[in-house]
Amino acid sequence: MKQAIIKKTFEARATRPEFLTYIQDELKLVEQKLYSNIPQKDNLLSEIISYILKAGGKRIRPSLSLLIAKGTGQVIKKHIILAELTELIHTASLIHDDIIDSSLLRRGRETINSLWNNKVSVIAGDYLFAQASVRLGEIENNEIVKIYAKVLSDLCCGEIEQFVNKFKTNISWNYYIDKSMSKTGSLFAAACKGAAILNELSVSEIELANNYGRCVGIAFQIKDDLLDFTSSAEELGKESCSDLKNGLITAPTLFALTSEDSRKEQLKQLIESEFKTDHENYDKAIRLVHELGGCEKAEELADKYIREAKNSLSFIKDNVIKEHLSTAADFIVKR
Ligand code: FPP
Ligand code: MG
Repeated sequence: MKQAIIKKTFEARATRPEFLTYIQDELKLVEQKLYSNIPQKDNLLSEIISYILKAGGKRIRPSLSLLIAKGTGQVIKKHIILAELTELIHTASLIHDDIIDSSLLRRGRETINSLWNNKVSVIAGDYLFAQASVRLGEIENNEIVKIYAKVLSDLCCGEIEQFVNKFKTNISWNYYIDKSMSKTGSLFAAACKGAAILNELSVSEIELANNYGRCVGIAFQIKDDLLDFTSSAEELGKESCSDLKNGLITAPTLFALTSEDSRKEQLKQLIESEFKTDHENYDKAIRLVHELGGCEKAEELADKYIREAKNSLSFIKDNVIKEHLSTAADFIVKR
């Protein structure tokens, strides 16, 4: 019953921005292609893959590929495959992430690990990664193969970095930005760069597309980290207020820990206690992050990356599409 309410509230929030309407025909093709990855055989795998692919999601990464394709030439069949495989990798990584985080909710529904179990979740994630590799082969472009192979290793490196640095209060901004680039920026950048490569843009234009995706991706992760502090599970369609409890030092906490305010020492001690002894310590730590201005500063940092993303859009000559890519960047930090 609780899950049904969360699903309803989550869906009700989802109003369709104009940049998505602009590419709705192409997005429909991507959606159909995504469903073609549901195994034909009527078994547990097809049940799980169907459950996860039909759970929706904003399809932000495919949308950026499609807008860049449209803004730099034609949307060809290979762009649709690129958008599809990007969403497959994203979905697979979330399935594995939910196992690691022991999360119960995703996209307003129960996670695969909570509805079934961790073992079948690993297999389901692996299956989607495998399908993404099949699609990558269909694109027949060695440069794009290399980019996406690197994305997969980046995802693993980002995730392991995060794992080994839990509850460490002396992490640097370089570490946080690098980790965000590996976890999130890398796939966004590939989606944008890949679309530009398929339309045979110049080296410098391809680099601008890559930078747009990189900056939007990092901003997306910062905003995601911020929303964990400021939004409810009903609003997000996934669990909230869980990062710090799990020892993840994200932008709001890092800003609080590096502020001029002497209360940062208290916050440091609370985090280093790993909230094992007293549950109230966790509430105190969250309060301190807010009081030391961590959330406002994280918002400003995300905005800074969005500004850099927009400054990279000179490779899009069509003003309407440039505006849509600019709005898409804003949408990511205003969600
Ligand atoms: C969500 O982060 C997770 C990611 C962006 C990447 C997760 C990557 C892996 C688990 C490794 C993938 C494995 C292979 C084989 C390539 P989050 O926990 O910050 O976001 P959330 O709040 O949505 O859970
Ligand atoms: Mg997670």
